[in-house]
Amino acid sequence: MGSGIAQVAASAGHPTILFDSNPAMLEKSKTELNKTLSRLLEKSKITKEESDTIIQNIRYANSMSEMGSCKLIVEAILEDLSVKQQVVKELEEIVGDECILASNTSSLSITSIAGAARIPSRIIGLHFFNPAPLMPLVEIIPGLATNPDLLPEVKRLMLDWKKSPVFVKDTPGFIVNRVARPYYGESIRIYEERWNDLPEGPTGFATIDWAMKEFGGFRMGPFELMDMIGNDINFTVTETVWKQFFHDPKFKPSLTQKRLVEAKRFGKKSGQGYYNYIQEDKFPEPFRNEHLGKKIKDRVLAMLINEAVDAVYLNVASCEDIDLAMTKGVNYPKGLLKWCDEWGASNVLAVLEDLHREYSEERYRPSVLLRRMAKEKSLFYQ
Ligand SMILES: NC(=O)c1ccc[n+]([C@@H]2O[C@H](COP(=O)([O-])OP(=O)(O)OC[C@H]3O[C@@H](n4cnc5c(N)ncnc54)[C@H](O)[C@@H]3O)[C@@H](O)[C@H]2O)c1
Repeated sequence: MGSGIAQVAASAGHPTILFDSNPAMLEKSKTELNKTLSRLLEKSKITKEESDTIIQNIRYANSMSEMGSCKLIVEAILEDLSVKQQVVKELEEIVGDECILASNTSSLSITSIAGAARIPSRIIGLHFFNPAPLMPLVEIIPGLATNPDLLPEVKRLMLDWKKSPVFVKDTPGFIVNRVARPYYGESIRIYEERWNDLPEGPTGFATIDWAMKEFGGFRMGPFELMDMIGNDINFTVTETVWKQFFHDPKFKPSLTQKRLVEAKRFGKKSGQGYYNYIQEDKFPEPFRNEHLGKKIKDRVLAMLINEAVDAVYLNVASCEDIDLAMTKGVNYPKGLLKWCDEWGASNVLAVLEDLHREYSEERYRPSVLLRRMAKEKSLFYQ
């Protein structure tokens, strides 16, 4: 991620320093970036001049001390709180008091990282999406102690970097990794239950994937997406969010995915996940039953919308930012709150209440805001 972020900054014309404690990784970043730029040049996506400027703008540093004059440092190192806190302490010995220290963490609290800082008001979250040069979304996360004046400044900078910034409260999973959880979790749950004629095994995964693409308009089905992200990564994110929400059953991880990780069926990168990528010609055909497909889509979509509505209710972010995050960060076909308006809050509520009644599980509790909106027949967008 670090080299992708460096490429973005350098492309926007900033003198950029890339540092990694492992010199081999630094060398690898250099080789990869040069390859990427040659490819872009070949495809005429950038000019020779632009490519040269990016290369000239990046300096590869062998020591942290070379970053003394930086105005902004984006940390994208190991996802470990004590390591990140240690790096903040080391950086504060080197940089000036005005330097902004940002973290690209996907799962740690910004407030907890800032807990180790001498000047906690300069710590902020800047969460890019992978690959950073291609994915436009950046979640900007102020911690409890972050100086509010930094917010417009950092937003302006992200716009200069041609990114789509959104503001998020320092809460587990921020916007995307919180609101998207049901796409995976509820789909696995449906598969585990094998309800409504859903076939067993890979045909079941393929049917759910087909339903979400065919009737939901999603670019990738949940199982193919989990296989692409990596089931190990996806499971860790789910487990982390669940633990940070004090084991809220809405976010409970699934045994199906845990077993896959234990068997090293990480997905595409390991050759097998939910699907087998070694014998791609044997990819299963879905069971194309329209009634079943629409029921699957309604259940997963209602859970997604409920999560987005709850995030508005709990002031995690604005409606506009939540919709922007899900469309720009994970390519959803539509913002979930816009979708709620179109489908009707009362219809979303009806799906959830049916589930809640049937299962008697907290997992299906509708957001208070969804209930209110259904009662008042109100909309997120006028
Ligand atoms: N990979 C993603 O899709 C993704 C997306 C968004 C955010 N993130 C976040 O970005 C950060 C990095 O993730 P990644 O996937 O690029 O990890 P990675 O393991 O590929 O890269 C981390 C790099 O940090 C270096 N490093 C470790 N400790 C260091 C230290 N003390 N000082 C300097 N360098 C050090 C390592 O040598 C390594 O090259 C994590 O916080 C992660 O949560 C990752």
